[in-house]
Amino acid sequence: MRAKSIWLSPLSSAVLLLVALCLACWSPVMWAQQTASSSSSGLSQSDIARMLPATDMGANDARNRDPHLRPVSDNPATPFDAAAVPKSPLAPNADAVGAKTCIACHALENVQASHSLHVASFRAGAAHTGPQAACESCHGPGSDHAKNPTAPGSIIAFTHDAKTSAQTQTAVCLGCHAGGARQHWLGSVHENRGLSCTDCHNPMARQSPEGVLAKPSINEVCASCHQDIRAKFNRRSHMPLPEGQMACTDCHNPHGTITKPLLKTDTVNETCYTCHAEKRGPFLFEHAPVRQNCLNCHDVHGSNQQTLLVAPIPMLCQQCHTMTRHPNDLQTTNGLGTGLAPDERIMGRGCLTCHTNIHGSNNPSGPKFHK
Ligand code: HEC
Ligand code: HEC
Ligand code: HEC
Ligand code: HEC
Ligand code: HEC
Ligand code: HEC
Ligand code: HEC
Ligand code: HEC
Ligand code: HEC
Ligand code: HEC
Repeated sequence: MRAKSIWLSPLSSAVLLLVALCLACWSPVMWAQQTASSSSSGLSQSDIARMLPATDMGANDARNRDPHLRPVSDNPATPFDAAAVPKSPLAPNADAVGAKTCIACHALENVQASHSLHVASFRAGAAHTGPQAACESCHGPGSDHAKNPTAPGSIIAFTHDAKTSAQTQTAVCLGCHAGGARQHWLGSVHENRGLSCTDCHNPMARQSPEGVLAKPSINEVCASCHQDIRAKFNRRSHMPLPEGQMACTDCHNPHGTITKPLLKTDTVNETCYTCHAEKRGPFLFEHAPVRQNCLNCHDVHGSNQQTLLVAPIPMLCQQCHTMTRHPNDLQTTNGLGTGLAPDERIMGRGCLTCHTNIHGSNNPSGPKFHK
């Protein structure tokens, strides 16, 4: 009996060990670590460097192709192989401890983040600091935190509840992403109102197919704060944003611009011309309010009038045009839409029945936009 159990116990413990090993292999943590390290195994640093995505963040920016728009000057993002560990103002004496230490306590976060472009690439390509900077290239040096994890501010955290200031948080991201679309982040309305990059981005989880956003789509990101604007797009007349064919960022750059309110172009009209190019003209006969600002007549985010108009016709036109000098006394005080006996020719779409080319005319006999 005794001899048998002595003989069996090493065997059974070996079996147990094997089972344990297999289980470990299948556990997502190991899997994530293995995929991460296998990508760097047979390859040299320069192989990896070639495989990493381009860091020229705005090379495909449409503004650089449109001769009418101000080109954006692009600084490429800092490449992954130059990732540095950012300074943590609340833990000035902390040192980097390496991703292995972080993962020992944060296995779940590691699984969530290992697929990400950032973490995978920091692991593979961080020649400057070594692959161990995978976590600390964003979270800062972690020795203080590893010793005393509950001490607030011991590590750079990216939430508003955390001790880390929004300024420190954005400085980490801007350490690699300054310039390009973020040229005007400093001083932008979002920066002034204390937003952090992570109000809109979450590089730790895969929420969106692109742009590492905090919500599945751009419009949902913006709607998390601008619910009123998003709701206007549900009105009767709207551009196809709820249908998923447009995004707030077609017109706005949330990272900051030199134009209010965060418009991507110098003027409102330039923004509209990027898609409604035919409205740019040139016209032989221009309608002054069109040239001045499309918003004189249109509410871009949505309207309950036809074609995004700010007021129904004829009231829209009558805000600026009186009944004087109109041929055949068509417009008299009584005949106006607001008059005692409204004339049907000038009600409803009345004005447009005759003045069809309201945005401008190229017809030699179209000074009144009839043709
Ligand atoms: C000894 C275990 C341990 C180690 C090692 C560790 N952490 Fe933590 N970490 C924790 C615990 C526990 C919390 C939760 C603290 C709390 O809720 O107050 C935490 C919280 C955090 C937070 C959120 C902080 C906040 O204020 O919201 C971040 C970010 C973080 N850890 C990142 C890291 C990184 C990066 C590393 C590696 C440099 C690391 N941790 C190493 C245990 C650890
Ligand atoms: C690209 C920068 C970046 C890298 C690299 C990165 N993180 Fe994060 N981490 C963030 C951001 C941003 C958040 C805040 C996410 C959010 O909005 O909830 C975060 C949140 C966390 C939290 C807190 C989670 C919570 O729910 O509060 C922990 C813990 C954490 N990261 C650990 C890690 C570990 C471990 C690694 C390495 C495997 C890592 N991070 C790599 C940017 C990064
Ligand atoms: C060490 C440098 C570094 C740091 C720090 C860093 N990033 Fe990045 N990030 C990169 C590189 C390199 C790319 C890939 C560029 C490319 O795809 O052209 C990238 C890509 C991105 C993208 C685009 C992803 C896509 O799918 O288009 C976003 C968004 C982003 N980072 C946000 C952040 C945020 C937010 C932070 C701070 C929490 C951050 N990054 C911190 C280097 C960094
Ligand atoms: C108010 C929301 C918001 C904030 C705040 C924000 N972003 Fe973005 N960011 C976006 C959206 C939306 C996109 C996708 C844009 C697109 O696809 O046209 C984006 C795209 C990006 C990209 C990839 C495309 C590009 O422009 O090169 C990077 C990198 C990026 N952001 C970094 C940052 C950094 C760094 C910060 C903080 C300084 C930040 N973002 C703050 C909403 C935001
Ligand atoms: C975390 C909340 C938050 C998110 C998310 C957010 N914003 Fe904002 N946004 C603000 C605040 C706060 C203001 C300032 C409002 C004010 O001062 O009246 C603002 C202002 C603006 C303005 C007006 C700028 C001006 O000069 O008046 C625009 C345009 C804007 N945001 C667009 C966007 C877009 C596009 C997105 C999505 C990519 C977005 N915002 C996401 C909080 C947010
Ligand atoms: C077709 C272009 C376009 C789209 C798409 C668009 N906007 Fe705007 N937005 C504008 C213009 C133009 C203005 C200037 C309005 C003004 O000056 O009265 C503006 C103004 C704003 C303002 C500040 C003024 C206000 O009305 O409160 C906010 C905030 C804003 N937009 C957010 C958003 C959000 C969020 C989305 C997506 C749900 C979005 N916009 C989609 C063109 C657009
Ligand atoms: C990113 C492209 C884009 C930009 C920028 C843009 N639009 Fe549009 N707009 C569209 C699309 C797409 C439609 C829908 C066309 C259709 O249904 O045939 C549309 C439709 C319209 C309509 C007709 C709506 C209706 O109910 O029939 C008006 C009016 C309009 N846009 C005005 C503007 C104004 C004003 C601006 C500038 C502030 C602007 N658009 C900027 C893409 C754009
Ligand atoms: C004087 C008022 C006024 C101004 C200013 C104005 N529009 Fe219009 N727009 C209208 C009216 C009225 C209609 C409806 C026409 C119809 O239903 O036949 C319309 C219709 C449209 C349409 C949809 C039908 C079409 O013709 O394609 C678009 C797109 C449009 N406008 C874009 C613009 C753009 C872009 C600007 C600025 C360059 C602008 N509008 C300025 C009055 C105006
Ligand atoms: C925001 C003010 C404004 C609105 C709204 C407006 N207009 Fe005008 N319109 C003008 C101005 C200013 C002129 C140029 C008058 C001039 O050159 O003497 C003009 C010129 C005209 C002319 C040519 C007049 C001429 O003497 O050559 C016609 C026709 C006209 N508008 C029709 C309309 C119609 C129809 C509408 C409604 C769909 C409309 N307008 C809406 C301001 C406006
Ligand atoms: C039945 C067709 C018709 C309708 C409907 C109509 N107009 Fe006219 N309108 C004309 C004609 C024709 C002229 C040009 C007369 C000329 O060339 O001397 C004109 C001229 C004008 C002028 C320029 C007058 C000037 O100062 O020389 C304005 C402004 C104008 N219309 C605005 C309007 C508005 C606003 C409405 C709607 C309330 C409207 N029209 C409805 C046919 C019409």
